[in-house]
Amino acid sequence: MVRVLVTAGPTVEALDPVRFLSNRSSGRMGYAVARALLARGHEVVLVSGPVSLRAPAGVTHLGVESAREMLRACRDYWQDCDALYAVAAVADYRPKRAVLHKLKRHEGEGQVIELTPNPDIVRTLARSKQGRLVVGFALESRCGEVEARRKMEVKKLDFVALNGPEAQGAERSSLLVLGADGSRVELGPTAKPGLARRVVRATLG
Ligand code: C5P
Repeated sequence: MVRVLVTAGPTVEALDPVRFLSNRSSGRMGYAVARALLARGHEVVLVSGPVSLRAPAGVTHLGVESAREMLRACRDYWQDCDALYAVAAVADYRPKRAVLHKLKRHEGEGQVIELTPNPDIVRTLARSKQGRLVVGFALESRCGEVEARRKMEVKKLDFVALNGPEAQGAERSSLLVLGADGSRVELGPTAKPGLARRVVRATLG
């Protein structure tokens, strides 16, 4: 039994108290990975952006909104975990300024939203991996395999599970699991719970 940190869902980056930038991640794959790990007897810490899914019974669940909140929550738990599955679709950028009052209609015209980069959570945590397993997930619409291998190297991942944009919000999906050792395993198409079990088997053993 090992203790595993899982990130899931989208992050939400505030523009004002009611509006935000985000993406179409449903959290299904991350939650399915958490369930698959639990089913194999592992302990799971699930750090999740806003989703409409119920946290699996038995996980330590932390709900967060922004990428910076997600990183803070992950940092608190990473030192006591043995592996990381970074499934979250973290927003690459956030508005440079989130205003404190709701923007009025007349304030919107001609308004330019300046963006600033968010921290890369998996890359930050993998810097202190010290032999622990780190698995990333990538969604690519073009040159998937080359780009996924590049990310694996840059972010110091042991594996990257690659899928296409059709996976977003879908019940079923396929994955190509690439290993830093050069391995290459194709999984699916199948429902996300089964896919998650196979990813866990292919990465954690
Ligand atoms: O967005 P990208 O394709 O680079 O995501 C690849 C991996 O990096 C995923 O596992 C994702 O969860 C992780 N990631 C992250 N923090 C970010 C961007 C991506 O942890 N800011």
